[in-house]
Amino acid sequence: MNNKYELIYEGKAKKVFSHQDEDKVIIEFKDDATAFNALKKAKFEGKGKLNCLISARIFEHLKQHNIPTHYLELKNGNTMVAQKIKIIPLEIVLRNIAYGSLCKQTTIESGTVLEKPLIDIYLKNDELNDPLITKDRIQLMKILSSRDLDLIIDLTLKINKILKSFFKDIQLRLVDFKLEFGYDFNKNIVLGDEISPDNCRLWDLNQKNDTIVSLDKDRFRNDLGGLIEAYSEINQRINELI
Ligand code: TMP
Ligand code: ASP
Repeated sequence: MNNKYELIYEGKAKKVFSHQDEDKVIIEFKDDATAFNALKKAKFEGKGKLNCLISARIFEHLKQHNIPTHYLELKNGNTMVAQKIKIIPLEIVLRNIAYGSLCKQTTIESGTVLEKPLIDIYLKNDELNDPLITKDRIQLMKILSSRDLDLIIDLTLKINKILKSFFKDIQLRLVDFKLEFGYDFNKNIVLGDEISPDNCRLWDLNQKNDTIVSLDKDRFRNDLGGLIEAYSEINQRINELI
């Protein structure tokens, strides 16, 4: 990245740089992949670019459905311009199908289709290992008002409906996903972060039997191989939608 831009923040999968407009930032998607709070690390050449392109298309789609997002425009390869937001330190996970940590922490069987979407909220704090958090603890920590929390939950449910249908159109089942929200310069709540196979579970519907074929970061988490091939396949299916 050009050194006229100042690095403001570096996360596990992205770097955030200043922009000449003070209310904007440039987000660079990295090729790094981590899992289990960075206990497992690897680099996949081309992942950053694929996630940037996939996220951009999904943000554009959400915008068309009146979901406020931080996304403004694609810049090049693996960077996008976004509104500068103050991230709310919560990770909002929505689950349509039981999988992953839900099945490790409960007796719910893997693959169970949930009667209604389940929302799990985690505190975004690497030192504490992003613990599952309750509404009362969120109030106790004064992270945000209960009105804003309700707003975020409502937005997450709406986003789920839009994304489920978006992914179904490209033969993918949206199992679960993680969202992050923030406040823009006008103190409005907007969707931030990214929406990509790094933070969604997506199963291929183009299978003759019930075998689960993950086209997402589970390929890395579970050592399945073929991560770039899976992300490229998703990008290609999205491009064919136009
Ligand atoms: P989980 O089953 O491990 O709780 O993950 C649920 C969803 O959230 C899955 O789509 C992956 C995503 N996720 C993230 O994006 N970041 C994280 O740190 C974790 C734990 C999960
Ligand atoms: N994003 C988390 C990490 O960096 C975990 C995950 O996505 O599974 O470790």
